[in-house]
Amino acid sequence: MIRREFLVRALSAAAASVFAREAFAQQGQQGAHSMHGMSDMSGMQGMRNSSGMPDMPGGGMPPSVQLAAPDALPAGAPLAALRTLPNESGEPGLFRATLVAQPAQHTLIAGHPTTFWQYGPAGGQPAEGAGNGPASAQPGSLVVGPLIDVREGDTVEIRFVNRLPEPSTIHWHGLPVPPDQDGNPSDPVAPGGSRVYRFTLPRGSAGTYWYHPHPHGQSAEQVFRGLAGPFVVRAADDPLAAWPERHLFFSDLKLASDGAIPPNDMMDWMNGREGQFVLVNGARRPLIVVTTDERWRIWNGCNARYLRLSLGEGRVFTQVGTDGGLLEQPRAGLTTLLLAPGERAELMVSAAGASGEAAQAQQSAQSRQLATSAQTARAILTAEVYDRRKMAMSHGSLPPNPALPLADVQFEPDSADTTQVARVLPASLRVIAPLGAPAARKSVVFSERMDMAAMHHTGRPVTGGLPGGLPTGMSFMINGATFDPRRITLTSRRGEVEHWSIENRTDMDHPFHLHGTQFQVLEREQGGVAALEPYRAWRDTVNVQPGETVRIATVQQQAGRRMFHCHILEHEDLGMMGTLKVI
Ligand code: C2O
Ligand code: CU
Ligand code: CU
Repeated sequence: MIRREFLVRALSAAAASVFAREAFAQQGQQGAHSMHGMSDMSGMQGMRNSSGMPDMPGGGMPPSVQLAAPDALPAGAPLAALRTLPNESGEPGLFRATLVAQPAQHTLIAGHPTTFWQYGPAGGQPAEGAGNGPASAQPGSLVVGPLIDVREGDTVEIRFVNRLPEPSTIHWHGLPVPPDQDGNPSDPVAPGGSRVYRFTLPRGSAGTYWYHPHPHGQSAEQVFRGLAGPFVVRAADDPLAAWPERHLFFSDLKLASDGAIPPNDMMDWMNGREGQFVLVNGARRPLIVVTTDERWRIWNGCNARYLRLSLGEGRVFTQVGTDGGLLEQPRAGLTTLLLAPGERAELMVSAAGASGEAAQAQQSAQSRQLATSAQTARAILTAEVYDRRKMAMSHGSLPPNPALPLADVQFEPDSADTTQVARVLPASLRVIAPLGAPAARKSVVFSERMDMAAMHHTGRPVTGGLPGGLPTGMSFMINGATFDPRRITLTSRRGEVEHWSIENRTDMDHPFHLHGTQFQVLEREQGGVAALEPYRAWRDTVNVQPGETVRIATVQQQAGRRMFHCHILEHEDLGMMGTLKVI
């Protein structure tokens, strides 16, 4: 009766059945209530698992999931190129394709195949290792959905076929598509069903987007099982079209030692799931060889992991774009860049290890020496330590993740490359006009409530016989309530500029995301001190730290329902989402 003992211990320690995290912290300070019972995470995992395994005897505790070692996946292979979704249409200006979501097996751990859920073109499951084309020569890239590569002005027509055992949708993250084509949770495609998504990409929409499922309560699971893919829209007058492009699609993978992708445990739900692996284009720690200056498009497709990217000491890069396309001016001389879950960026990375003229001017003498003294240099693309204040089951926060190497980068500037000389990064990339005076204001407040007693009961299943039902006891809220599909949270008029303030009254970071449009961050306020955003950019996702208020300018152009939510997908599923009705 270990399970029962644990419950008794935990409940007596918690004393009150419902309390906010502030109360928790106070208890900690007073030292009145030891929460040691609750910090026993293996116990919590076991309890969580028992709800998903009805065959376990009543009082028994199933062993927690045995995770694969952090080096169980091979590393060091050359970075796989993303496969591209083929255009089935011969008509100019029309991109027509099929995306099938279905289970597909890949062997990442020798002898232990993993069943992913994957997007692929029509024509059935991609056969692993079958020698028919470049994609199968690099099976790693198959884990990521195929790249949809289109141009401004194109009409996109995608038939979605759902061969999953549960409902799904495809949401076009960041794109200004009509509300009824945007894969809202209210428009699910049933298992075995299909539908066509159709939209036209307006001028000015060039940028780095992605697509992923958005079904009610099941987005997190569908994404962590592999359903997510990149989407690039190109402009005819792209000032950076001459640079070779490299794509880095980051995804997170939690893998059991038997190759299975386990369901979320209690901590995954609370903080958002972070696996032991971060994959780049489907592979662990690949090798990137840079021989000439490159334009990198980077996607954070992880459920919850923050990526504070760096190339290491003395290596600078230039940011040229955000979610919704190019910046007005390059931001040179950066050494780190934080990408919250859901965010994207465009960088210029120089073969010399710095990045372009402007960056080199800003480089320290020391690092310039480093870059020029050796023809070949190595760097490690790293997710540096970033403290997003993950919650512990006991009071307080968990320590931040240690720095994690994501890819090895080898700089081998090719002196014979004469095209390089012809490419000079323009000082001005495009004009982003301010949106102007607001016609309305909106307020979004993030809050949370933890009910420890309820957390210790079983999850309520939302997926029939499948494991991974939502847990009870954790509430992540917007404007005081969790998501209710019948409720309109906010109403906007189309064409009206609005200023939104997004305030984080919780104790952890949450990335705010708004559908259907790109917005401009105006300022960020923390502890009564407001700082104007130093540069103008188009974004659809912005991180909001605990105690911070971020102010944005935004405008919706089409009538209908739009979602806005925390892009930690577990939080979204748990109800940290609202509906914006545009009239
Ligand atoms: Cu990337 Cu509502 O989603
Ligand atoms: Cu979105
Ligand atoms: Cu969140």
